[in-house]
Formats: sequence, structure tokens, C-alpha cells
Amino acid sequence: MRGMPSPSPLPRLLGGWGAPVLMFVIALVVAVPAAALSGATTPVVLGDAGAVVRWGLPLVGILHDLAAALTIGLLFVAAFLVPEGPSSDRRGTAARAAVGSAAVWLVTVVVGWYLSFGELAGVPPNTPGYLGDLWAATWQLEFTRLMAIEAIAVAVLLPLAAWARTKTALAWAAVLALASLAPAAYSGHSAGTVGHETAVTALGLHLVGLSVWVGGLLAIGLLLPILGPALPITVQRFSTVAGWAFAMVAVSGVLFASVTIGSPTRLGTSYGIIVLLKVGLLLLLGVAGYLQRRAIVARGVDSPRRFAWMASGELVLMSLAVGLGVVLTRTPPPQSIPKDRDIALSLTGFPMPQPWDWGQMLTAWRVDWLFAFAALTAVGLYAWGVWRLRRRGDSWPWWRLLVWVLGWGLLVYVTNGGPGVYGKVMFSIHMVEHIALMMAVPILLVPAQPITLALRALPKRRDKTLGPRELLLAVVHSRWATFFVNPIVAGTMFFASLVAFYWSGLLDWALTTHTGHVAMVVHFSITGYAFVWALIGRDPGPPKWQAPFRMLVLIATLAAHAFFGLALMQGAWLLAPEFYKTLAVPWVPDLLVDQQLGGAIAWGIGEAPTLVLMMLVAVDWMQRDSRESIRYDRKAARDDEAELRAYNARLQQLATHDRRST
Ligand code: HEM
Repeated sequence: MRGMPSPSPLPRLLGGWGAPVLMFVIALVVAVPAAALSGATTPVVLGDAGAVVRWGLPLVGILHDLAAALTIGLLFVAAFLVPEGPSSDRRGTAARAAVGSAAVWLVTVVVGWYLSFGELAGVPPNTPGYLGDLWAATWQLEFTRLMAIEAIAVAVLLPLAAWARTKTALAWAAVLALASLAPAAYSGHSAGTVGHETAVTALGLHLVGLSVWVGGLLAIGLLLPILGPALPITVQRFSTVAGWAFAMVAVSGVLFASVTIGSPTRLGTSYGIIVLLKVGLLLLLGVAGYLQRRAIVARGVDSPRRFAWMASGELVLMSLAVGLGVVLTRTPPPQSIPKDRDIALSLTGFPMPQPWDWGQMLTAWRVDWLFAFAALTAVGLYAWGVWRLRRRGDSWPWWRLLVWVLGWGLLVYVTNGGPGVYGKVMFSIHMVEHIALMMAVPILLVPAQPITLALRALPKRRDKTLGPRELLLAVVHSRWATFFVNPIVAGTMFFASLVAFYWSGLLDWALTTHTGHVAMVVHFSITGYAFVWALIGRDPGPPKWQAPFRMLVLIATLAAHAFFGLALMQGAWLLAPEFYKTLAVPWVPDLLVDQQLGGAIAWGIGEAPTLVLMMLVAVDWMQRDSRESIRYDRKAARDDEAELRAYNARLQQLATHDRRST
């Protein structure tokens, strides 16, 4: 088996560019009739841009998704899954191949950008002045702007993939490749639909899941000729990743379909039928995956031939799903855009909620799937870690699991419940959301010591590859982490974020765009976590400052925070005036009063968690002191008070010296 040419042609087909090309052909074979039947190639309202555009776009779409998936798969497998042999150059081969697929990816984005303008404008590309108009409109139109951003990201990825050879460099290239999918998540049907945020989250997760899954399998196939003894462990590790990707693709696909289809009664539409076909393909993939996993776990994959047989059936099913998926993005969804879009829907992406009252504050709910999924995953992984420790007989305090669940529960309430719903239309409630994310949630999460648990629960890799545990250690001990959890830096970030966010256009951006909203929640949560960690964190990381200095930083930040609240309470100028005036929330007659209430909340509510932090720093101070004195006493007992005796001897010496010199 090892390196010997196998009799079957399959490993050779998989081991080259044959497999991605074959996938493209199979996807095309299913996409053409599906597109013709589903209306995906019917001219749009504005005008017919011609057959080249109508048929070119799905074709380029398939090539785009496959090239993106292969690039991501190659970088992911090289950075995280495949061990490097003494004389092998598996990572280099993967990176070089990724340059090739990234180049194809870039070309598809540019061609997609060129053809899409025709569809948007309803004019064929051979129209005089087409290129000039396209150039002029690129940043004006959201669709072409998104494609331009993706083109720039992939253009940056190309040299990075060409240069990257170490695990870390390949890991960064894989991160950039995954991030380059973000613009695509904002385009297509997720752009227009009601529940825009849900659609973007769903398509984003769908693209990430299928790219790692399809791309990873293709990448292992492409590296097959040089994997040799590394094949079994690489496939075993990929099989775990594939399990996660399967779940991600399934959940995100159904979530997206729930937005675009709206009700099961519409499953009979061409859009609905394609979705059902895809569900069928995913179930088949699930069965194939399950059988393989059993075979892999039972016997391991000991030959390229065996892997090739296992993978090719899956790749055929995936090609069909990719072909149908791209057609789906171009098939008119049955759920139409409501004509009477109230102003809140146009500005925030959501309809105006019921008039605010405490009942609504406690019961209003609008699922923000991104943060709901994040919370579910975080709690699930933490519980898995505790279970692993307990199963091998190690202890882990239950109260830590409790505060972890409470912390994420609070984050879900703040982003999905009343604060999340009313924070989009009322400044005062937005401030509740902000303070809770920055202070209350981290005060619950930090004491749960998730990093300590992860490092104890996650298995160590013994072949110098970057597994989850190694990745976590690399992050925790990185210079960046050391910099950001430095109390001064964390305190400054904490306060500067407030000033920068409210006295620049960032508030507007966060209130009117999905990206802005996600960036706000993520930034406030991380800044708050770093600040609280710098004060009371006990996870492995940079050495802690002495408690008195931490207390000083806390008091200084507290004062700055109070100043911020007061400035808002006294301020006579409106923040995000256009947004709030246009929104004209019926139950907020005076916007300035609501803003000043926001200032009072920032000051008032902000103080409570700060007082808790002060107490926790004081407790930590006392505990460290008592640990220090216990350590000192034990040492004194062990070495018969050597330190004290040395000190006294020194004093004796000084006294004698003084006596002599006088
Ligand atoms: C439960 C099974 C699945 C469901 C419900 C589902 C649903 C969807 C939906 C609703 C879309 C977006 C269509 C739009 O823009 O309106 C989509 C896109 C897509 N899906 Fe799936 N899907 C499923 C499984 C899969 C699988 C297994 C694959 C491939 C391995 C796949 C590949 C794709 C691709 C490539 C796109 C197009 C993404 C783009 O270019 O924007 N899907 N899917």
C-alpha cells in the first residue's frame, strides 16, 4: 500500500485535478436541467441581459463554490489535519495546489462581478459603455460591492497561500480563505428577504460547512499520492470534522429554507422541490458518512484505494448538491418580500416591535441565530469537557458549569430577548444590551475557566500537528493575547470602545447593518471578557498583576465609565440623529430624554457589575495573600526559617557595622 501504484484508476483520478473537474461536470449536468425547470435562468424584471449572463452566472457560481471549497479544504487539511513526514512536503504540496484553486476562485469572482452587473442592470455585457458603467456602479450597488470585496480578499489570499509553508502560516491562510466567503453570505436571496439577519447567518454557516466538508474531502483526495503512512490519521481526523460540517450544513440549510420558503405548504414550488432534493442528498451523505465512520473507526483507512472508493461516492453526491444549491440561489423563492415595509423593517431589517413595557422587555423574543448557535456550541463543548474529565475520574466544580451556562444564557437573552429586540429601536435599551455584554456576561463566563477545562479535556497531538488543544495554547500564549489582557490595555480598550463607538458613525453602522450589529456584539463581548480576565481570570495566560494594581486599574476604568455615563446624561446633542428621527418610535416622544436615560443606565447599571468585580478582585487578593503566606510558612518549616534567619543575620551585620563606624 505505501506509495505503490494501485491497480484501480480511482486513486489516480482523485490524486490529481481530475476529481474537482469531474465534480464540476457532474454539478453542471444536474444544474442545467434544474435551472431550466426552476426559472433560475428566466430573464429578471429589469430586462433580459441575454443567455450569456443567464446561463453564465450559474455555471460560474458552481465553479466559484467548488474552487472556494477546494482552496479552503487544502489549507485546512494542511494546517490542522495532516502530519508532515521527515522527507515529505505534504503542506507545501497542499499550499501550491491551493494557489491554483484560489486563482480559479478569483477568476470566477471577477467573471461573476462582470456578468452580475448585466443582470442587475438588465443589459447584455456587449452593450456600449458596459464596463465603464460597471466600474462606476461597483461600489454603489451592494451586490457588486460585495463581489469586489471578495475579489480583493481572494487576491490577498493568493500570495499568502504561495508563501505559507508552516502550520501557523497555513492556519492564517485558512482563516482568510474562510473569511473571504463572508461577502457571498450577504448576497443572493439573503440580501432581500425578511429576516435578512437569519438568512445571512444561515448562508454563511452553510458556505463554511460545505467548503470545509467538500473541500477537505477533495483535498485529501488530491494529496492521496503523497500521504502514505499519514493517510489513516488524516482521514480519522477529517471524519470528526466532517461530522461537524454535516450538522452545520444541515441546520443552516434548513434555517435558510425556513426563511425563503416560509411555510411547508410552499414545498411544492420549484424552489421547495430543489430544497427537498438536497435534503435527500444530505441524508444519503449522512448514511454514507456513518458507514464510513464505522469502517474507519473499526479498521482505519489503510490504503489509498479504499479511501478513493469511500470518497468518490460521497463526492458524486456532493457535486449534485452543489449543482442544485447554486441553482437554488438563482431560483425565485416562494416567500415574497412584503410590499408594506414599515420604516423599522427598512432601517433595521426587523418590523417595529410592540410598544415597550416591562412585560415586553421580559417576553419579547426574536431569535438571533448566530449568537444562539454560538451559545449552544459553547455550552455543549463545555459540558462535553466536564463529562470527559469526570469520566476519567478528575473533578471539576459544578458551580463553574453553572456560571458558564448562566453567562451564555444571559448573552442569549440580551441578543435574542427584550434587550436585543428593543435595543434596535431605543437608545436606552441599546445601552442595557451594551453594558450587559461588556460587564455582566464576562463576570459570569471568566470564573468558569473555560481554557483550563479545554486544556485538561482536549487530547494532546503527538505528531506536531495543530489540533484544537495546540491551537488554544498557541492563542493563549501569543503576544497578542498577552498584549490585550494587560490590565492597562484592557482597561483602555474598555473605555476607548465606549468613546469610539458612540462618538463616531459606528453606532449608526451597528443599528442599520447586520455586519455592524454582529461586530458590535462581538467587540463588546471580547473587550469586556479581556478586561474581566485581566482582573480576576485564573485560566493559563500571561502572569497576573499584583492585586492592588489591578484594583487601581478597575477604579480608574470605573471613573472613566462614570464620566461617559454623565456625559450622556448631560449631553444636549443626539447620537445617530437621522436614524432615530427617521425611525420615530411611537412610544419614545423625546429622543434626547431616552438618550439621557441611556446615560443614566450606563452609569447606574454599569456600577453594579463593577462593584462585583471589585469584590472578586479583593477576594482574589486575599486568597493569593493567604496562599502566599501558606507557601512561606511551608518553606520556613522546610528550611527552618532560613529566610528569616538570613534577614536577621543581615540586620545583625548592619548593626555591627554601624556600631563600628560610629
Ligand atoms: C438539509 C440539506 C440542505 C438544505 C435544506 C439546503 C438548503 C440550501 C439553501 C436554502 C440554499 C440557499 C439558496 C438561496 O440562496 O436561496 C443553499 C445553497 C447552497 N447549498 Fe445547500 N442545502 C442542503 C444541503 C447541501 C449540501 C449537502 C450541499 C453540498 C455538499 C449544499 C450545497 C449548497 C451550495 C453550494 C449552495 C449555494 C451557495 C452559494 O453559492 O451561495 N447544500 N442550500
